[in-house]
Amino acid sequence: MARPKIALIGAGQIGGTLAHLAALKELGDVVLFDIAEGTPEGKALDIAQTGPVEGIDVKLKGTQSYEDIAGADVCIVTAGVPRKPGMSRDDLLGINLKVMKAVGEGIAANAPDAFVICITNPLDAMVWALREFSGLPREKVCGMAGVLDSARFRHFLSEEFNVSMRDVTAFVLGGHGDTMVPLVRYSTVAGIPLPDLVQMGWTTQDKLDAIVQRTRDGGAEIVGMLKTGSAFYAPATAAIEMAEAYLKDQKRLLPCAAWVDGALGLKGMYVGVPTVIGAGGIERIVDIKMTKDEQAMFEHSVKAVKGLVDACKGIDSSLA
Ligand code: APR
Repeated sequence: MARPKIALIGAGQIGGTLAHLAALKELGDVVLFDIAEGTPEGKALDIAQTGPVEGIDVKLKGTQSYEDIAGADVCIVTAGVPRKPGMSRDDLLGINLKVMKAVGEGIAANAPDAFVICITNPLDAMVWALREFSGLPREKVCGMAGVLDSARFRHFLSEEFNVSMRDVTAFVLGGHGDTMVPLVRYSTVAGIPLPDLVQMGWTTQDKLDAIVQRTRDGGAEIVGMLKTGSAFYAPATAAIEMAEAYLKDQKRLLPCAAWVDGALGLKGMYVGVPTVIGAGGIERIVDIKMTKDEQAMFEHSVKAVKGLVDACKGIDSSLA
């Protein structure tokens, strides 16, 4: 059987890390596409030369031609600009919307059967626009945010409790922005929900609230440190987990930005929800029950996403 083909649209910080991880895991042959001449070629060659030492058999190619992504099984999109200190993800909307148009058309023409994972920010609006521009089936186009936000939450919780990160599960829903909803009730240490752990004295409600807020600000914290760009190791790792779930038909239950029409009280929009990812792409939306407070936070987040989608329609009339 031929090796799967993974196309990475954008060969910057996240794109390069994606290529390295995909190669290390031998997920398939990798094509790095970027408009910046030399960048994808240089990174592809550099990573290919790790092969003899790592003992991996995958091919890597860098390109400026969309034709080279032909027949890709997975496309991961990071093309666009990242934020700088002081910027919100939403500030990237105008410039990255134009990029999504070019990328959507490139994927539609060359890899219409691919499972597409968007990472470009502002995430929920960009994945919606990418789907509109590409015209691909909605279950084959999704966005990476929930896995990353949950990983950040899990990391902070494991430090607070001094337990292995592997035993901490967490759930973050809603838009990938300041309004995201870390669901404390559905987050656990080895199955023990966080509110129970507060009662058991493992932490205090104030400390937990601070961790929730730090999770919401997780991206900005790193932008503030790096100064020249945004996080790239954890975003790439999160997207690779989603790609692997699709390629290996793992039926993983992962939070991601998916098209929701009916579940969670939503009518036709992209937002962060629990999904099942397998060979069919987004195979299921998990229609969880929320308390009144959780529902209110989720609706606030949904409203913010809708505002960004409306802003896209205002910029590009073909989307209206
Ligand atoms: N087509 C292809 N590539 C493009 C295009 C385009 N139209 N426009 C820009 N690019 C490329 C740039 O040349 C650059 O190499 O996208 C790459 C982006 O890489 P970085 O600037 O290093 O950004 P990165 O940190 O990888 O983040 C990419 O993901 O998390 C989001 O907010 C982040 O929107 C940003 C995206």
